[in-house]
Amino acid sequence: MSTAVDRNAPIGVFDSGLGGLTVAHAIMQQLPGESIVYFGDTARVPYGPKSPDTVRRYSHEIAGFLLEQGVKAIVVACNTATAHALPMLEAELPVPVIGVVGPGARAAVKGTRNGHIGVIGTEGTIKSGAYVRAIHAESPNAKVTALACPLFVPLVEEGWTNHDATWVIAEEYLAPLLRDDVDTLVLGCTHYPLLKSIIGEIVGRDVRLIDSAEETAADTRRMLSDNDILGTNEQGDYRFVASDDPAQFLELGQRFFGDALEHVEIRTFG
Ligand code: DGL
Repeated sequence: MSTAVDRNAPIGVFDSGLGGLTVAHAIMQQLPGESIVYFGDTARVPYGPKSPDTVRRYSHEIAGFLLEQGVKAIVVACNTATAHALPMLEAELPVPVIGVVGPGARAAVKGTRNGHIGVIGTEGTIKSGAYVRAIHAESPNAKVTALACPLFVPLVEEGWTNHDATWVIAEEYLAPLLRDDVDTLVLGCTHYPLLKSIIGEIVGRDVRLIDSAEETAADTRRMLSDNDILGTNEQGDYRFVASDDPAQFLELGQRFFGDALEHVEIRTFG
């Protein structure tokens, strides 16, 4: 990292849409002095079913936009974008970058007692094998059951976080985890923490649920500190940018962010 980097420049955080606001919120709580530019690709969400090349192209465009905003580091808050694009971004970006898969995998390895970890995510995340690789990098003997739950994202976006239909679908998706006796489950998608109560009830109270937002915020602090670019301000500034309808971002965004969002800028691609 060159000495010319402004330690009070913002951190860029991006996601396919609104779900990454949970990660942005955790960073704001843990690092209140850091400024953030959040980009949600609401025009092109969902990334889950898209091809790795398409997700890499989108991630490359968004990272370019964030660099234009002067960010000092980038947090990929989307599991699918992390799974497909993190190695590419690490290789091509002039600023440090972290994703959500490593922090989630590390927390799961720390949390498991019987060495059997479940991971749920979008189709793209699960097919990429990124979580299985990250868990085995930490603990080569861990047993991993990885399952795609593609209907969870639209159910959460619909606000059906405690709907009968969601229960039925979740029971069907999660049944293999019960058979396999996992004791730790990674919620490997930005939207799944909003289904925590249903998922927790189905898999049972002894199964530890890992929500990577908190872990990613802790990793963000480490990344900034390792690169000697921790901010020195008392209070950071926040900008929110989306690629589609601002009204939808402000309304639905609150669900993920936990607090009211007042203003969103629009930036479209292609
Ligand atoms: N943000 C995505 C993830 O964490 C979920 C939504 C999508 O499919 O784009 O994988």
